[in-house]
Amino acid sequence: MRLPGVPPALPALLLLLPLLAPLLGTGAPAELRVRVRLPDGQVTEESLQADSDADSISLELRKPDGTLVSFTADFKKDVKIFRALILGELEKGQSQFQALCFVTQLQHNEIIPSEAMAKLRQKNPRAVRQAEEVRGLEHLHMDVAVNFSQGALLSPHLHNVCAEAVDAIFARQEDVRFWLEQGVDSSVFEALPKASEQAELPRCGQVGDRAKPCVCRYGLSLAWYPCMLKYCHSRDRPTPYKCGIRSCQKSYSFDFYVPQRQLCLWDEDP
Ligand SMILES: *[C@@H]1O[C@H](CO)[C@@H](O)[C@H](O)[C@H]1NC(C)=O
Repeated sequence: MRLPGVPPALPALLLLLPLLAPLLGTGAPAELRVRVRLPDGQVTEESLQADSDADSISLELRKPDGTLVSFTADFKKDVKIFRALILGELEKGQSQFQALCFVTQLQHNEIIPSEAMAKLRQKNPRAVRQAEEVRGLEHLHMDVAVNFSQGALLSPHLHNVCAEAVDAIFARQEDVRFWLEQGVDSSVFEALPKASEQAELPRCGQVGDRAKPCVCRYGLSLAWYPCMLKYCHSRDRPTPYKCGIRSCQKSYSFDFYVPQRQLCLWDEDP
């Protein structure tokens, strides 16, 4: 039995605070730090930031191998940006780190609105959170390059997020078509070797010569993110109200062209 007006227990103790939030002031982005379980079972800390003025959400987590993964959702521009800062193995003669940026279209049901994210609070910051829903692996073929110096025309976040990945910002033809229809300038995008030619290129794992071009694959996971709002009913209110979130986990795999196999040294064992 439940008392009238008391919402059902929220398993993760993550609450939306519609009444308190206005008192917390606006302007400064709100940050939530959560401990999350990665798909391989290890635990890491994840930071989620929401900026309701800019209408954006960003998420950052460090993988056990040191890779820093970040995700930015720009609701104003229908853009999402994935970035990976991959630590090089210095003893193998690799540079300190390599940065990759993947830019794709943001769908509106992928993640909760920034204004709801900004109101999210947790009661128990020590709890290790595991996503309630595991969404399937999405495989993306990145066949267009993004010109960094023109990137602000696509999303104002690109300059900050992809500053280390100037020569490695990738998008997809199908998303480019959508953005062009939205009025984004075509100077943002540059052709890469055509998909048909790329299809004939070998995967980097099968190429011995480090100077040869190949198709590189990089995978990453968003271990935990609020993907949907939950609604509660109360006798005191005429309509259901937002009272919590549903959490999701999702993995992505990106294929992209590299002019030299040495830019894809992690793709070792296909
Ligand atoms: C990127 O755009 C700028 C400005 O249009 C242009 O000068 C530059 O050549 C472009 N970069 C590449 C690699 O095409």
